[in-house]
Amino acid sequence: MRDAESPIRLSEYRPPDYLIDEIALVFSLEPQATIVAARSHVRRQADGVTPLVLDGKRLELQSVSIDGQPLTTEQYSVTPELLTIHAPPASFRLDVVTRINPAANTHLEGLYMSGGRFCTQCEAEGFRAITYSLDRPDVLARYAVRIEAAKEQYPTLLSNGNLVEHGGMENGRHFAVWVDPHPKPSYLFALVAGKFDAITDSFKTRSGREVLLGIHVDPGDAPRALYAMDALKRSMKWDEDVFGREYDLDLFNIVAVRDFNFGAMENKGLNIFNSSLILADADTATDADFEAIEAVVGHEYFHNWTGNRITCRDWFQLCLKEGLTVYREQEFSADQRSRATQRIKDVKRLRARQFAEDAGPLAHPVRPNQYQKIDNFYTATVYEKGGEVIRLLKRMIGADAFKRGMDLYFERRDGTASTVEDFIACFAETSGRDLSGFMRWYEQAGTPAVKARGVYDAEARTYHLTISQRVPATPGQPEKKPPPIALQIGLITQDGERLTTQLETESVAHEEHHVVLDQTQHTFRFSGVAKPPIPAIARGFSAPITIDDGLSVEERLAQMAHDPDPFTRWEAGQSIARAMMLGQTSTPAAALATALGRELDRAQEDSAFAALALRLPELSELILASDKPDPDRLYAAREALRREIATALRERLEPLARAKSETPFSASADAAGRRALKSAALDLLAALGAEQTDTFLAAYQNSTGMGETIAALEALGAAGSGEFQAALDEFYERWKANPLVIDKWFAVQAAAPREDAMARVEKLRSHPDFELRNPNRVRALAAAFAMRNPRAFHAADGSGYRFVARLAADIDAMNPALASRLLTPFESWRRFDSVRQGHAKAELERLAALPTLSKNAREMVERTLA
Ligand code: PHE
Ligand code: ZN
Repeated sequence: MRDAESPIRLSEYRPPDYLIDEIALVFSLEPQATIVAARSHVRRQADGVTPLVLDGKRLELQSVSIDGQPLTTEQYSVTPELLTIHAPPASFRLDVVTRINPAANTHLEGLYMSGGRFCTQCEAEGFRAITYSLDRPDVLARYAVRIEAAKEQYPTLLSNGNLVEHGGMENGRHFAVWVDPHPKPSYLFALVAGKFDAITDSFKTRSGREVLLGIHVDPGDAPRALYAMDALKRSMKWDEDVFGREYDLDLFNIVAVRDFNFGAMENKGLNIFNSSLILADADTATDADFEAIEAVVGHEYFHNWTGNRITCRDWFQLCLKEGLTVYREQEFSADQRSRATQRIKDVKRLRARQFAEDAGPLAHPVRPNQYQKIDNFYTATVYEKGGEVIRLLKRMIGADAFKRGMDLYFERRDGTASTVEDFIACFAETSGRDLSGFMRWYEQAGTPAVKARGVYDAEARTYHLTISQRVPATPGQPEKKPPPIALQIGLITQDGERLTTQLETESVAHEEHHVVLDQTQHTFRFSGVAKPPIPAIARGFSAPITIDDGLSVEERLAQMAHDPDPFTRWEAGQSIARAMMLGQTSTPAAALATALGRELDRAQEDSAFAALALRLPELSELILASDKPDPDRLYAAREALRREIATALRERLEPLARAKSETPFSASADAAGRRALKSAALDLLAALGAEQTDTFLAAYQNSTGMGETIAALEALGAAGSGEFQAALDEFYERWKANPLVIDKWFAVQAAAPREDAMARVEKLRSHPDFELRNPNRVRALAAAFAMRNPRAFHAADGSGYRFVARLAADIDAMNPALASRLLTPFESWRRFDSVRQGHAKAELERLAALPTLSKNAREMVERTLA
């Protein structure tokens, strides 16, 4: 059962023996037999003669020659995975011709077909499935790409950089030549060929360069790409305004494809997107879709500087581009929408995905130090925690030193393959600080658990707040050192007065104190404290930590009503709800209902915030917060509290839920906020059960946008309404021609917390529209089920585990990267009772015993079982 192969380790990094400066590729495209001719200018870096070892994947070599001389069989050895040239000269021209079969490529990595169109995905190690290559990010080359294909079927031919030539050929074929002047690693290579509709636009950079923008989509979909185009232009402007970064080519293309393993890919000048993150209009997209499109279009665009121009030395440095780009993306979204709600949403996501990961067998540092398959490390930790760490850095050194550090990084590291150390060195320099302790955030896994207790002395008017931290043990890391934790502390009174107090390290008194806890424990001494204080220790969620502040429900209610920080207000409500659901307080639910009623009173000012406040902690969060969670009991407790609150607020919620859709539709943050409030009202009313069916049906029938339709369907599902099925049938009939909408139809059912969840999911698995080969469809069923329906996934009879594990096994044969990701929800298996553990373990072991299991899935299974 053990994988004999040893892992790849950060400590074993060695610079490449050879470099490639230039590469010219010629693609003769045919679905079943594409010929790729690669001409590389290779230069030795190592001292002395050493073999040139090129990576391959499922490749068939046609010919290989050096400086025009075909190699004899003694001069090289070849397998589908490796081409070794035993003793090449110090500098030479290498010609390699390979043959590949894109139509048979179900891995969606390398060159493959989606909907009859050619496209590529090369990150992390997909380029080697196209040609034998030095497929590692520290080998940067200039690319020239000639694409030849049948003109009729493949009128659009795209690659990175600028189009320099195109024209006709014999036999109904045509060609295009693309040249990318910027040296890049192979993972940023891209090629697209097929029939597309395009929308075009242009952007004038601040130095006056005119950039032609194109978004290429399936024929007929062009109008649905307008929002993405708008988001692209806003991204380009924002990066100039906020980071001083300008775009660097005359052309920027985005292509949307239906079959894609991830969200999107930042290939230089030619981003390739999952169509779910490009296509949107009022009829077919929810507000969450619009938000995600804006965020991901921004994210991929921002990679042009953080990832492409400055890339990673090796894959251990993945967070160098991903964490930083997530941070930039979140800042962009905050500036485009509302900073307060953006922060809350980012924290929710971090907690739901990254905290869960950090607390289980898959925990790893933001910069992992070993891996079997790098594909398995595109994780919440690398991305989301990686983003938080940047935000934390900025808090610690201040906005000014941060800005100068970014500028220095862009200037100094431009055109290089860099490390986290290279990045941090820039900030150490601009801030004049020793940031060695900060590296713990990159090197240690586990979420620091912070505990805070205060002692107030009324006579002395002092307040002593003792804050300690502990980083839990994680796989391979039993012992931890304390990382520096930024705290943003504010004190208010029970009546909501903001206390101006002075820390012993401060020269004047403040309403808010920015401090860093860089030891295991420290006591912060405040003076001039006129009244008993209620401390908020991490306003704005100032660090990715868990907090035990020991506050009473009373105190939290005061925070909910009065703390100036929206995150703290939201968090206070969530904490009260969590304590009530977990049976940790005897305060009656009415107190929370009253407080939430007050949020409804001020919903006029910020409905998006009120909507977030009304959404009580998810079941998955309760599971994570319990020692030996019983999903059924927790579900019941959660519903009981929601029912009490819905009952108390019914008169206020019903009109919200029944409100007519606003017309015309606007995708603006304000309009989205009002819709979010309506959805939250529907969600809460669902706790009242089928008696509210009329409300949900009214919402369903009167809705004019997809977001409201889905919210109504979800409510019908969650309430156990008998009308759920009829609404689903009607929805299906209306939308069956639109795959992205049908994905939602699958997901709504898979996520519905109903008794019949398992039976539904089984039935959907054999629905004619279920496509094992399409990642969006697979995730709409399996990920929606395993992540959003924890009660069914963790069913005591093991049926949920069995379903997901067996589906993953079926998918593994064709798409290991997708299969492997489907297995992440198993990360929590050890938290449950022995019966559930037994079922989960049996499924995981069954997978491990499959001789054909992919390396991707095997690594996941073994780490999960370890
Ligand atoms: N680099 C992409 C992003 O985060 C994610 C990705 C990784 C896409 C691997 C495809 C394959 O922007
Ligand atoms: Zn990214």
